[in-house]
Parts: sequence; structure tokens; C-alpha cells
Amino acid sequence: MRLFSTSIGRKGVMAVTGLLMVLFVVGHLLGNLTVFKGPDGINAYAEGLHKLVPVVWGTRIVMGSALILHVYMSIQITLENWAANPKKYAVSRSLRATFSSKNMIWTGAAIGAFVIYHLAHFTFRVTPSDLMLGTDTMGRPDVYQMVVDSLSGAVIGGVYLVAMVALCLHLWHGIQSLFQTLGLSNAKLLPEYGLWGKVLSGIFLVGFGAIPAVILAGILK
Ligand code: HEM
Repeated sequence: MRLFSTSIGRKGVMAVTGLLMVLFVVGHLLGNLTVFKGPDGINAYAEGLHKLVPVVWGTRIVMGSALILHVYMSIQITLENWAANPKKYAVSRSLRATFSSKNMIWTGAAIGAFVIYHLAHFTFRVTPSDLMLGTDTMGRPDVYQMVVDSLSGAVIGGVYLVAMVALCLHLWHGIQSLFQTLGLSNAKLLPEYGLWGKVLSGIFLVGFGAIPAVILAGILK
């Protein structure tokens, strides 16, 4: 259990679970972008995905475990750091710290809150928004209409946009940090990993953010 009790072990767990979740986010973004092909795009994609029952459940189990471990470790590390000496910690970190690296716990908490809301919203459909999952003309679950109807409201569309900013801020530092922890970086490669973090998190912001933005603008109906 040294993995959970030593500082390097914990950072390793954070990095591996973080990497798994980044891979999920890449896959989810690619799937979600089919919404721009209209009902035929995303409804066919969602139906095809739900037929792959072992893949869906395997992903849910791995991602659920990764999320729980990631959150548990982050709370433990943050509380220990605060208890050790919050002032000294803040000063020493701020030498090379960015807004993103200083606020990982808060952007992480925002993403956690978003994921809980998002599951209640689209997966369990238990939010007080009268969300309906009907069927399209081909008898498939109409994920397209469900997404467009709910994100066209200013409040829910706005919540999604703000959450995507939090995701971008979190991964701006998180992706670079996980490469460093996994030992894949050296002094020469460090700026490259920083660039990867910025490019990927920028792609997530633009890619995911475009969905509520385009729906709010009335372009997808
Ligand atoms: C504009 C942004 C997003 C849209 C429109 C969107 C849309 C959706 C939809 C429609 C589903 C249900 C799929 C189905 O049951 O067929 C879903 C599920 C899910 N989304 Fe998103 N999503 C967005 C962003 C995100 C982000 C940023 C994350 C993670 C940080 C995320 C995590 C999940 C998870 C964990 C599920 C549950 C998957 C499952 O059923 O096991 N989503 N999303």
C-alpha cells in the first residue's frame, strides 16, 4: 500500500488515473462532435455505442474507479499540504505557479460537481428539467433532440460552458504534470509537455464548448 502512503506513489496514482480520464474525454469529445452531423450522426453513434455492452460497462467501471481514486488522492494531498504550512507552500509554489496550477483543487471540484450534474442530467435524466429521451424517425433513442432541447436554455447551456472552462483550466496544468510524474519528461522535453497541455485543453474547450455555444446561438435546432 506504499502506493497510497508515499508522496511519489500518490502522485503516480494521480497521474495514471488522470491519464485514463483524459483518454475518456478525448473519446467522448469525438463521439459528441457527431452532433454536428445532425440527428443521424449522434443518434447512430449513441445507438452503436450502447450495443457494445461490455465496452460500455468496462469503461464505466474503470472510469468510476479512476475518478474515485483521483478525487481521494487529491483531497488527501491538498489537506496535507495545507496542514504542513499553507503560507510557506503558497510562496514556494508561486515562483513558477500559474493560475491553473494554483487552482487545481477548485477547478477539479467544479468538474466533479459538473460530472455529478451531467450524469443526473443525460444518463439518469432526473434533473428538474422535464428532459425527454424520445425516439427519432428511425426508432433510435433521440439523443440529438435531448441534447439540443436542454442546452438551448440559457442557464443549462451556461452551466455547460462554464464547466468546459474549468475543464480547460484543470488540464492546462494537469496534462503537463502527469507527463512529468510518469517520468516521461526531462528538462529538454518539459516545454513540449507544457505545449501539449495547452493545445489539448484548448481543443477540449473549443470542441466541447462549441456544442452549447452553437445550440444557444440557435444554429443547431
Ligand atoms: C458539451 C459538452 C458535453 C455534452 C454535450 C455531453 C453529452 C453527453 C451525453 C448526451 C451523454 C449520454 C450518452 C448516452 O447515454 O447515450 C453523456 C454521458 C456522459 N458524459 Fe458527457 N457531454 C459533455 C461533456 C462531458 C465532459 C466534459 C465529461 C467529463 C469530464 C463528460 C462525462 C460524461 C460521462 C461520465 C457520461 C456517462 C457515460 C455513461 O453512460 O456511462 N461529458 N454526455
